[in-house]
Amino acid sequence: MSRFTLTETQQQALLDAARHAQRQAYAPYSRYPVGAAVLDDQGRIHAGCNVENAAYPEGLCAEAAALAAMVLAGSIRAMAVLVVGPGGKNNSAWTMPCGGCRQKLREFGAPSMPILSANDTAQGPRHTLSALLPESFGPEHLGNT
Ligand code: THU
Repeated sequence: MSRFTLTETQQQALLDAARHAQRQAYAPYSRYPVGAAVLDDQGRIHAGCNVENAAYPEGLCAEAAALAAMVLAGSIRAMAVLVVGPGGKNNSAWTMPCGGCRQKLREFGAPSMPILSANDTAQGPRHTLSALLPESFGPEHLGNT
């Protein structure tokens, strides 16, 4: 399998889409708006934002929303993900996918899939899915490849 390389153009398109999505976030409880963008295997970008709920555990993360948009659009292969949140400012930690979202990304991404972080003014670290979720459980364990 040939290794995927994220181009500068694709990275900029992910950044634009995630920042645009962040502005639509519904986060009145945490006041922590997040946007996410996923590049699929057809070169399309799908975005999502967090959608919180008065019943706190019912809130939805931006990554989950972006993946749902990707599946709805007909792709089940994610090639790269970029997350934009308030992190990375004033020495704060960069916004990173939560544990549950790392597992959700695992369903549709290769171990080498890049996961990038950013805020509204700067780009942050870049990791691979396997670095953020090592020794993980996935579709192949159930015979689904
Ligand atoms: N959140 C995301 O949507 N994605 C992340 O990568 C980190 C956290 C949301 C969940 C909640 O609405 C808010 O950020 C604070 O945890």
